[in-house]
Amino acid sequence: MNAAIRGVTRTAIYYGLEVIGIRHGYHGMINKQFVSLKAHSVSDILARGGTMLKTARSKEFMEPEGRAKAYENLREAGIDAVVVIGGDGTMTGARVFCDEFGEIPFIGLPGTIDNDIFGTDYTIGYDTALNTVVEAVDKIRDTAGSHNRLFFIEVMGRDAGFIALRSGIACGAEAILIPEIPGQVQNLRSYLEKGFKRKKSSNIIIVAEGDEEGGAFAIAEKVKDDFKEYDVRVSVLGHIQRGGTPSAYDRVTASKLGYASVEALLDDQKSVMVGYHNNELVLVPFRKVIKLKKKVNPEEMQMVEILSV
Ligand code: F6P
Repeated sequence: MNAAIRGVTRTAIYYGLEVIGIRHGYHGMINKQFVSLKAHSVSDILARGGTMLKTARSKEFMEPEGRAKAYENLREAGIDAVVVIGGDGTMTGARVFCDEFGEIPFIGLPGTIDNDIFGTDYTIGYDTALNTVVEAVDKIRDTAGSHNRLFFIEVMGRDAGFIALRSGIACGAEAILIPEIPGQVQNLRSYLEKGFKRKKSSNIIIVAEGDEEGGAFAIAEKVKDDFKEYDVRVSVLGHIQRGGTPSAYDRVTASKLGYASVEALLDDQKSVMVGYHNNELVLVPFRKVIKLKKKVNPEEMQMVEILSV
């Protein structure tokens, strides 16, 4: 997110605009947490994870009174356009606000490690999170292989399996379990039997935390009596997936999105998210971003199965 903040700030300054950072997201909008951003304010942040502006979940912004307060504060501070970074909740807040107070244009940037935002192939932080997961699973594979173990590794994704799916492909997982495709536990037996026959020394099953069974511990508990031949272990990767040095891809793409959000405002765009689709920057209306659900590519799911024969 810092690369995007830098992208927005520096592009706006290049075009002679004044930039004000809003700390703690919508919460800060309601509580006047405004800071002036100069070109040097965003120096040395590219390599840092998280966000220099901090973030918050604001219940107040969900209420009309909270949004009215935010509007008054923006007006008072002379803010006449806003770029927001976040997921579904952020875009929904932006859309409702724009419907109520149309004269302040909002542009959204997709920011979530889950990559579950419609209209964009990429979300800020996803690539870094994926690399963190891959590094961790590679390490776990060493133990799994040496001890002939069956590992259930839980990755983030409360409502979506994109981290699980892509890390599963990158790490050669034997199977993945994700919220978008129910009933996968039933197929585990056949995956594992195939592996058992060809004497696979390790089995890695990647589970998205939002899977219908309730996460890796619940699944391991459920299946361990069925798979007595395996020594079962569980590993939950947790919040290490949400931090750390951003990957080069994340830095470059978030910078592009930040830059493009200012260009979009200068082109009189509003109520749209800047996304990245088929290697091109695209503008997607908030209405679509909120209403439509990004789908998992069924071919990638099938690939996990085929590549683990
Ligand atoms: O951003 C979404 C997400 O990464 C989910 O996958 C995960 O469940 C959640 O954030 C964790 O958030 P928190 O920091 O509230 O535990």
